[in-house]
Amino acid sequence: MDSPHQFRSVSSNFLYLFILLASNLLTFLLSSTLFSCSCSFDPTQTTTTTTNAMPNPNPVITPDAAEESGITSNTPDLPPEFLAFTSPQLLPFGFNSNFDSDNILPSVGRPCTLFPDELNHFMSYKVNGSCPDDELLAQKLLLKGCEPLPRRRCRPAAPPDCVEPFPIPRSYWLTPSDSSVVWTAYTCKNYSCLVNRRHKQKAFDDCKDCFDLEGPEKVRWTAKKGNGVELSIDEVLSVKKPGTIRIGLDIGGGVGTFAVRMMERNITIVTTSMNLNGPFNTFIASRGIVPLYISISQRLPFFDNTLDIVHSMHVLSNWIPTTLLHFLLFDIYRVLRPGGLFWLDHFFCVEKQLEEVYVPLIESVGFDKVKWEVGRKLDRGPELHEIYITALLEKPLKNSW
Ligand SMILES: *[C@@H]1O[C@H](CO)[C@@H](O)[C@H](O)[C@H]1NC(C)=O
Ligand SMILES: *[C@@H]1O[C@H](CO)[C@@H](O)[C@H](O)[C@H]1NC(C)=O
Ligand SMILES: *[C@@H]1O[C@H](CO)[C@@H](O)[C@H](O)[C@H]1NC(C)=O
Repeated sequence: MDSPHQFRSVSSNFLYLFILLASNLLTFLLSSTLFSCSCSFDPTQTTTTTTNAMPNPNPVITPDAAEESGITSNTPDLPPEFLAFTSPQLLPFGFNSNFDSDNILPSVGRPCTLFPDELNHFMSYKVNGSCPDDELLAQKLLLKGCEPLPRRRCRPAAPPDCVEPFPIPRSYWLTPSDSSVVWTAYTCKNYSCLVNRRHKQKAFDDCKDCFDLEGPEKVRWTAKKGNGVELSIDEVLSVKKPGTIRIGLDIGGGVGTFAVRMMERNITIVTTSMNLNGPFNTFIASRGIVPLYISISQRLPFFDNTLDIVHSMHVLSNWIPTTLLHFLLFDIYRVLRPGGLFWLDHFFCVEKQLEEVYVPLIESVGFDKVKWEVGRKLDRGPELHEIYITALLEKPLKNSW
C-alpha cells in the first residue's frame, strides 16, 4: 500500500470515528431535549426545538473531514425545515430491535447539503400552508443527486379546477383533460401543444412525439414479428410459459405505453419517468398506470428476486457514466426474480464503444442471452457511427447467486 493511500485511510478512519461520536452526541442531546417534551404535537415548536437541539457541526469538523463528508466550511446554515426533517427522531416506544436503534433518521440524498441555495429555496415555505409551485427546482435538485428529496409539510401545487380521470379502459388511449396538470414547469401549456410539438418545435425534447397517442406510440412493440432491434411484446412473452410474466418495471418509460400494452395482457408494470419539459408523471397516471418518480441514480425500490420483467428503452445509453451503469445493471439483476427477463431495448452508443466498453459491461453481470440484436442508429446521421443494441436477457433460474 503506498503512503498517500495509507494516509487517506487513516484520515477516513478518523472521520468515521468522528461521525460515530458526533451522532451519538447528537442522539444524546436530542434524547435529553425531546424526552423532556410532552407528547402533544405543535409543528412550529417541533421545528424550533429540533433546530436548537442541533449542534452546529461546522466549528468542530476539520477541513479534511468536512470536505470528505460534503459539508464545506463556507456552507451557510441549513434550512430549519430541512433540519427538522432529517434530524434523528426518537421512536415513541423506545428501542426497537428491527431498527437496532431507539431513533429513526429520515432519509434524503446525501448530496442535498451540497446545494444549500437550492435547498434553502426548496425548504422555505409555510408549514401547513401551500407549497411553492416549484417543480422545476425540485427536479433539478433531485437530478443533481439530492434524491430522495426531503419531505415537506405543505400542500403541493394542484390545478384549481381538476376533473376526474377517464375510467379504464378508455383512459389508456385518450388524451387527458388539460386541467389535470400544473403547467408552470413546461414550455407547452396544454396537451394539444405537446401532441403537435414534433411538427412545430425544433428544440430537442425528451420523447418528443410520445404525447401523440395516435402517432408512432400507437403501434410500438405491437408488430407481429419485430425485426432486428425492434422486438414485439408478444415475441418477448413467448419466451416464457404463458402467465409467468406478471409484474415488472419499465425504466424511463416515457408516457407509459409499454405498461398500457402489458396491462392489456393482464401484466402489471410500474413506469419510472422524469418530467423533462412535459408532465410525464401526470400523463402516465391519467392513463391509469403507476408512475414512479425516481431517476436512474436511485436504488430500485423493490426487494431482491421479485420482478418477472424489467424493460428499458432509450434511457440507458452512453450518456450514463460507466460505473453508474454497472451499478444500475446489477440493481436490475437484483430485483429480477430468477428466470426473470431484462429487455434492454434500443441501448445506444458509438460503434467503437460496443466491443470496448458495453459488451463486456453487460456480459459481466451474469444474465443469459436470449436475443441479442445490433443495428445502425441513423437519426442523427450515419457519420456519427451510432448503433443500437436490443437484448433480451434472462436471469438464470438456478444458481443465480
Ligand atoms: C392547517 O391547515 C388547514 C387547512 O388550511 C387548517 O384547516 C388547519 O386549521 C391548519 N392547522 C394549523 C394547526 O394551523
Ligand atoms: C394551447 O397552447 C397554445 C400555445 O402553447 C395555444 O396557441 C393554443 O391556443 C392552446 N390550445 C388550447 C386548446 O387551449
Ligand atoms: C385478463 O384478465 C381477464 C379477467 O381475469 C380475462 O377475462 C382476460 O381474458 C385476460 N386477458 C388476457 C389477454 O389474458
